[in-house]
Amino acid sequence: MTGTAEAAIQTFVPRAAEIAREAGARLREYFIAGVETEYKGDVDLVTVADRTVEKLIKSRLGEVFPEHGIYGEEGTRERMDSEYRWYVDPLDGTTNFAHGFPQFCVSMGLEHRPKGARPDEDGTLVAGVIYDPMRDELFAAARGGGAQVNGKPARVSSVADLAEALLATGFPSRKRHASPNIHFYHEFTLRSHGVRRAGSAALDLAYVACGRMDGFWEFNLNPWDTAAGILLVEEAGGRVTDFAGARYRLASDEILASNGLIHEELIGFFSDMFAGQNLSPIPTAAEFAKNRERATPAGTNRPPGTPAGSKGAREQESGA
Ligand code: IPD
Ligand code: CA
Ligand code: CA
Repeated sequence: MTGTAEAAIQTFVPRAAEIAREAGARLREYFIAGVETEYKGDVDLVTVADRTVEKLIKSRLGEVFPEHGIYGEEGTRERMDSEYRWYVDPLDGTTNFAHGFPQFCVSMGLEHRPKGARPDEDGTLVAGVIYDPMRDELFAAARGGGAQVNGKPARVSSVADLAEALLATGFPSRKRHASPNIHFYHEFTLRSHGVRRAGSAALDLAYVACGRMDGFWEFNLNPWDTAAGILLVEEAGGRVTDFAGARYRLASDEILASNGLIHEELIGFFSDMFAGQNLSPIPTAAEFAKNRERATPAGTNRPPGTPAGSKGAREQESGA
């Protein structure tokens, strides 16, 4: 085992886990107390919790690993030429947090960058922790050391067919009108057991790692959203690529993570989607409304707007 791999297991993960727990405890306090919300753009929200907790993580990492670099969502850029770089999302799931929806986390992933690496060159993810303070769940992984949830081994699911899979995705909070993802959401919903949009990409990845979800995809995430989760999925036996099956890079605009077993099926589906073939059309709302009117026999006493076949309509029609 290399020095880095050993350090990841012995030091990087345990220290990061302590920091993530402290940061998560702070988020929980803010969540319970309630915070004001500001806009960074469109519907991209930020709160005092995001900023304060990033500062806390930055200062703790600086104390424990003074040589490591830090790249945080709320603007931290420390020692960017360091051999090690932490990608930090102090609060992944800010929209949930701001609305009182208890699905959010702290995410910290560590990249080992070869000496002299170009700025656009990826290193190797060697440590990752994701902490959900509302459920007190700590997801942790070290390269070569496996993945754990609260200290117990985490393993991806054994679901082998997309038709039986539970999937997750997310939507951007910037340039929303440019995202095609709703089309993928629609198709995947019809081809699987369902798609969850729970609002925290880091937790979505952690859930793939521990088998609660079988696959996850999203467009335009950032390394602070994905770094820890990617390592978790890989160390739990899963696979992470772009939509075409190529190696995932931290600057990638596409992430596809799965238990590995449904990965090829997912890639095939993305290729169909981008080629516009084998799609499952559904009625538009206007087409649906026309059919709904046609389905209302003249002379029935079903009140306008009561869908045919609904409980209300049946009651009206039977005079109940
Ligand atoms: C967001 C969450 C969400 C994903 C968005 C992200 P934030 O991160 O991970 O699930 O769909 O694309 O931006 O803004 O809450 O840190
Ligand atoms: Ca995020
Ligand atoms: Ca965030």
